[in-house]
Amino acid sequence: MHSEWRELDGMEGAMKYPVLRKLKGADAWYRVEGPRQWVEWQRIGSRWMKHVVVAHQHPERMTLHDILNDVERYEPVVDWPIAEGEERLEVERDADLGALTTFRVPGKAAHFIRVRSESGVRQALNWRPEGMPLLVLGGGSNMLLHADWPGLVLHVDVPGVEVVADDGRFVEVVVGAGEPWHDWVMQTVDAGWGGLENLALIPGRVGAAPMQNIGAYGVEIKDRCAWVEAVSRADGGLRRFSAEECAFGYRESVFKGPERDRWVITRVAFRLDREAPLRTDYGAIREELAGRPEAEWTARDVAEAVIRIRRSKLPDPAVLGNAGSFFKNPVLSAEAYAAFAAQHPDAPHYPQADGSVKLAAGWLIERAGWKGHDRGTHGVHDRQALVLVNKGGATGAQIWQLAQHIREDVLSQFHVELEPEVNQIGA
Ligand code: EPU
Repeated sequence: MHSEWRELDGMEGAMKYPVLRKLKGADAWYRVEGPRQWVEWQRIGSRWMKHVVVAHQHPERMTLHDILNDVERYEPVVDWPIAEGEERLEVERDADLGALTTFRVPGKAAHFIRVRSESGVRQALNWRPEGMPLLVLGGGSNMLLHADWPGLVLHVDVPGVEVVADDGRFVEVVVGAGEPWHDWVMQTVDAGWGGLENLALIPGRVGAAPMQNIGAYGVEIKDRCAWVEAVSRADGGLRRFSAEECAFGYRESVFKGPERDRWVITRVAFRLDREAPLRTDYGAIREELAGRPEAEWTARDVAEAVIRIRRSKLPDPAVLGNAGSFFKNPVLSAEAYAAFAAQHPDAPHYPQADGSVKLAAGWLIERAGWKGHDRGTHGVHDRQALVLVNKGGATGAQIWQLAQHIREDVLSQFHVELEPEVNQIGA
């Protein structure tokens, strides 16, 4: 990056977005949404032409700098003439969160706002008094509520599926954070856009998928994500994170790491491939498809196989409260794995590219004797030990206590530490 751009970033990072400007002597209006993006409107006859510009490179970065700083040419705007159908915010007090997370444990939000657009996100952020804690909620499929939320819960419901590029083979599709993940995957299968079929039936919404780089059956969202757009909680600015900037890892991303709690994801772009090779290396998928010659397998067959496998092992959150795998699969160094394997040569293990070895937490928990463990209102799923379940009436604190007991037991039996995969809220 040029050094002068870093200076620009410094200045523009200090602004409060959006910033409104008008080009003097012309019918051109600008809404700068962050240090990297602006929207331009030009009046053509009685119509407005809208142009969204993302400023990654030199000429656009300089133009953006001028729009913001050259007030001789771009005058600050007080009255904004363009009606965009801004959302009307509704703030609900003491809202019940019970039905909004898949664990379905009780909990309330002191304040609750549902938004359907990026400008709605900004309005909600502006509404929030300074210091009020903010929880962003999508499908609620990867969180355990330990208590009521004392601040604002922002339910991101941004809709939309839009093809923005198509060269006959690859398509780039931008999807609103509020779209249900599984519906989106099935839409790609219907359209013949390959690459996401192994991720069928994962609960949750599109906006949460990059947070923890969701993955299953040999595919992770990082393999198909082009970029992620998010609104800054600090200044309302919009930023587009390239896939590289998302720093995806196993159930990790920049949004769980250094940028944690700084953004509200509003849109995710995917790059899909009409000729994507099928990923059927995962044993269970091959078994499901074994009845038919391999040359006939399609992406839809893979999606359907994944759906059958998931239904056979994982509880349906609509029937039994749960958040999928409660723990991550632990990754051991080569030395730690050698010591472990000397005691447990039969344990499933997956060597990683960097020499480390991933273990199956489900196997450890089952071997430790917890599979099917029943505490009346909650317990450990009887077909997959990595999944904790709310059978009805459990609190988040009770489920967390069970998780602690499992963790301590696995540590004492195997000297392996389990880390929760599910976000713990208000712990
Ligand atoms: N296993 C047991 N007992 C159990 C569960 C598993 O012995 O109760 C053994 C299995 O026999 C197998 C190994 O552990 O040898 C792995 O099990 P499985 O294939 O069911 O996958 P997993 O490692 O338990 C991970 C993901 C799942 C994903 C599946 C399939 C994590 C934390 N979990 O589970 O993701 O669907 O692989 O790719 O990485 C989720 O993240 O919520 C989730 C469900």
